[in-house]
Amino acid sequence: MAETRKWVEPDPKRENWFWPTDELRERAWAADPKIYEEAAADPLAFWAKRAEEISWFRRWDKVYEEEPYAFRWFLGGKLNLSYNSLDRHVEAGRGDKVALIWEPEPPDEPNRILTYKELLAEVSRLANALKSLGVKKGDRVGIYLPMIPEAIVAMQAVVRIGAVHSVVFSAFSAEALRDRMLDCEAKVLITADGYYRRGKLVSLKPNADKGIAGTKVEKVIVVRRAGNEVPWNEGRDIWYHEITKDQPAECPPEEMDAEDLAFILYTSGTTGKPKGVMHTTGGYAVQAYTTCKWDFNLHEDDVHWCTADVGWITGHTYINYGPLMNGVTTVVYEGSPDYPDYGRMWATIQKHKVTVYYTAPTAIRMHVKWGEDWPKKYDLSSLRVLGTVGEPINEEAWLWYFKHIGGERCPIIDTWWQTETGATCVEALPGIGPFIPTVAGRPFPGIRAKILDAGGQPVPPGEGGYLVLEPPFPPSLLRGLWGDPEKYKATYFGEYGPRYYFTRDGARMDEVGNIRITGRVDDVMNVAGHRLATAEVEDALTQHPLVSEVAVVSRPDEVKGEVPIAFALLKAGAQPSDELKRELIKTVDQHIGPTARPAEIYFVEDLPKTRSGKIMRRVLKALVRGEPVGDVTTLRNPESVDHLKELVGYEG
Ligand code: PRX
Repeated sequence: MAETRKWVEPDPKRENWFWPTDELRERAWAADPKIYEEAAADPLAFWAKRAEEISWFRRWDKVYEEEPYAFRWFLGGKLNLSYNSLDRHVEAGRGDKVALIWEPEPPDEPNRILTYKELLAEVSRLANALKSLGVKKGDRVGIYLPMIPEAIVAMQAVVRIGAVHSVVFSAFSAEALRDRMLDCEAKVLITADGYYRRGKLVSLKPNADKGIAGTKVEKVIVVRRAGNEVPWNEGRDIWYHEITKDQPAECPPEEMDAEDLAFILYTSGTTGKPKGVMHTTGGYAVQAYTTCKWDFNLHEDDVHWCTADVGWITGHTYINYGPLMNGVTTVVYEGSPDYPDYGRMWATIQKHKVTVYYTAPTAIRMHVKWGEDWPKKYDLSSLRVLGTVGEPINEEAWLWYFKHIGGERCPIIDTWWQTETGATCVEALPGIGPFIPTVAGRPFPGIRAKILDAGGQPVPPGEGGYLVLEPPFPPSLLRGLWGDPEKYKATYFGEYGPRYYFTRDGARMDEVGNIRITGRVDDVMNVAGHRLATAEVEDALTQHPLVSEVAVVSRPDEVKGEVPIAFALLKAGAQPSDELKRELIKTVDQHIGPTARPAEIYFVEDLPKTRSGKIMRRVLKALVRGEPVGDVTTLRNPESVDHLKELVGYEG
């Protein structure tokens, strides 16, 4: 890469640019940057080549087809996700390889270890059990399970018979479960008695019962995990171990069309009703397989640990389908990162000789707070590649992760993607780099992205705008929203029309194509007649050297229509002051202009966040507007809301 080219930010001196080590380059699936140009010249050929690496019952006739608001990959191809995850490894003689290591939360409980052969048998038994309950191709099956091997078994069993899973995060409320089960009209639910979290037994079954009341769920399969007493509905509820016990350990995989629906996953939706994101079989399989292999440089000896929950897309793609399709060992951890102490994650890496560790910036920031003495106690030398996902990572957390976890040897692959994209789309590749804190990287080979302004014109390198994806659309991009084609069009193609998938993220790109994501732009304000995204103001404020994180929401204003209100979290050691407020206003003036000046800046100690680390702007908005704050139980830190109420003088 030419050293002369201009990089606009965040680090013009490139003090913090990192490059792959020789060892990484040697092992890499992609080590030559030419791959980007090659793939860009013929993305269909690039993806077709990748598709050849997975197993098809019937080869596709046509790679890609598109019409306004609809596109299809690998037309006429037939395959099965579960066959690709399991059977093909067993058939290749790798049946005794460890597929899954389960780390239960109680430290003295033994691990459960399943080889590919054992996992295939278990999946087949459950698949046959589902068939015995009348589940057929296309039927929806709800999965409301904690982080236990059966969560993976359940997803695999459902897709094996051509049914469609909809996984609901086990810490979601009964109401959240009900909304989703009602919307997708699930026929069967797979759940568990309970699980362990922070040393406590959490009972799940009563929630499941409440969640399916009034839905079309006819049968409930219950996994015995924790052994706690559960309410029982005779005739409806069936123990997992009983229904699977006498089932044959073979179940032929359904031959799915590449465009057959594989699963529905509801997004955490910050407003209104959750949206059922639909993923189909072929494109999803190919992109999940390829990105998992290339992003993390997967080889035969890799032990892959993604710390997400199976309730999120990250868990679907990078705990289950991605690693298993690649035939590596995937680690599933049941519990909390601070149990029995702050060293749990590092102890687990040491114990299972984990080579790939993939987690969220929020989690890293928590570890930063707990201190580097914890990882220092453990041998982390097995690690080769680190990953992050889900939100922009700040430089401090990035550097800490790089130094204290990766031993300055492991690249950090900052992967940008969404529930909707199904698999990663923007990231630096481990054999190519560069790895730059706060910068995700280039679009994955074969994926086209642009940054547009509000009017749909591409912005010059280095300038902020809106991230869009261009045709051919990524193979694993969503094909629709369950039961709501109009919302699908409006949400993703409303702003820029059918030629661009709108990610609803703000971003900037350098001349080579490295992308820095600045955050969601869903909250658009109209300030004195100017269209302005709250994320743009946030972007400006975070450029001040003392600001660590910031959230901006709008408040109605008699004169200007709306005005931005900022909540700023300062870096360690920085002191709030009126002088600093004035400086921040100046920063906004500089980056956007006086119209974007926040009417108020609050210095806060914590921002309300979802469990996946996203700031809940809805809560902040309600606070500044004096409106009801609503349900905050799904927050990671509900206590932050009380503090904020005091700060803003909330009287709602
Ligand atoms: O705003 C982007 C942010 O997370 C959003 C997608 O959220 P979700 O569908 O819950 O999926 C999260 C896991 C894939 C995006 O629109 N996001 C995701 N990854 C990154 C990110 N923001 C910055 N950097 C990332 N690496």
